[in-house]
Amino acid sequence: MHAAAAAPIGVFDSGIGGLSVLQALQAELPHERFVYVADSAHAPYGERGDAFVAERTHAIADFLVQQHHIKALVVACNTATAAAIHEARSRFPKMPVVGIEPALKPAVAHSQTGRIGVMATNGTLGSAKFASLLALVQDQAEFVIQACKGLAHAIELSTTQAAASDASHTEVHRLCAQYTQAMGHFGKAPGQIDTLVLGCTHYVFAADDLRQILGPDVTLLSTGEPVARQTRRLLEAADLLAEGSLGSASAGDHERLRLLTSGPLDALQAAAQRWLQLPAQVCAQAEALS
Ligand code: DGL
Repeated sequence: MHAAAAAPIGVFDSGIGGLSVLQALQAELPHERFVYVADSAHAPYGERGDAFVAERTHAIADFLVQQHHIKALVVACNTATAAAIHEARSRFPKMPVVGIEPALKPAVAHSQTGRIGVMATNGTLGSAKFASLLALVQDQAEFVIQACKGLAHAIELSTTQAAASDASHTEVHRLCAQYTQAMGHFGKAPGQIDTLVLGCTHYVFAADDLRQILGPDVTLLSTGEPVARQTRRLLEAADLLAEGSLGSASAGDHERLRLLTSGPLDALQAAAQRWLQLPAQVCAQAEALS
């Protein structure tokens, strides 16, 4: 095992969305240490433009490497992956860098009707990376693509405001209903959308609303688990898995986790508590990133 194997894995997102990926990472890699950055002071990324998102990605990657000596980086944000993963890899050529992209290929394998919905941010959908991903599969199914302006922001507010206030939660539900309605008919009958790709890590936290709106016949696909498996593969290949990774362990060892935010601390604490059942003490402010 490499000496750096004991170092943490850095994970980041524009806000709390990447916590859905962190959950999958912890389940797949229970012996690892993680440092998570929520860049909430600069969210939402999806409506900021590539140059801004690339600049934030570099700042956060540098911070995690210099201050936390991470051994690997997981970009738990589709928008940042699309805008800046290539640069992040060339900036740190020796470090495993894992990105996330909308699950178009798994959707093709899963769909029976051949009609697939994709929800993501403007930034992701407008990127060259998404265009090449789509080009690989677009002759294998019909894709109904929906940019969901405001949805990540609404999810951020609904999760982090005191006990998910009714008004902010209603806004998440309203936007989910509005965007899915714009996509057409969902269901398993011919011509209907039977598979919905959640192409933004925040949208995982609206899955209950989407299921309520769309019913039981529609499959929602997210990408946390494949990203976690890919992270394991890259760590293994680099001989960087933490000691004990081949055995079993109980996930959720709080000692092994640090959650940092460039935005308000209480908001991250509320999200960590609500989605990962974590105590407030694992959260701290990353003043250097504010
Ligand atoms: N969670 C992010 C993603 O996966 C972006 C949300 C945002 O900040 O717009 O794309």
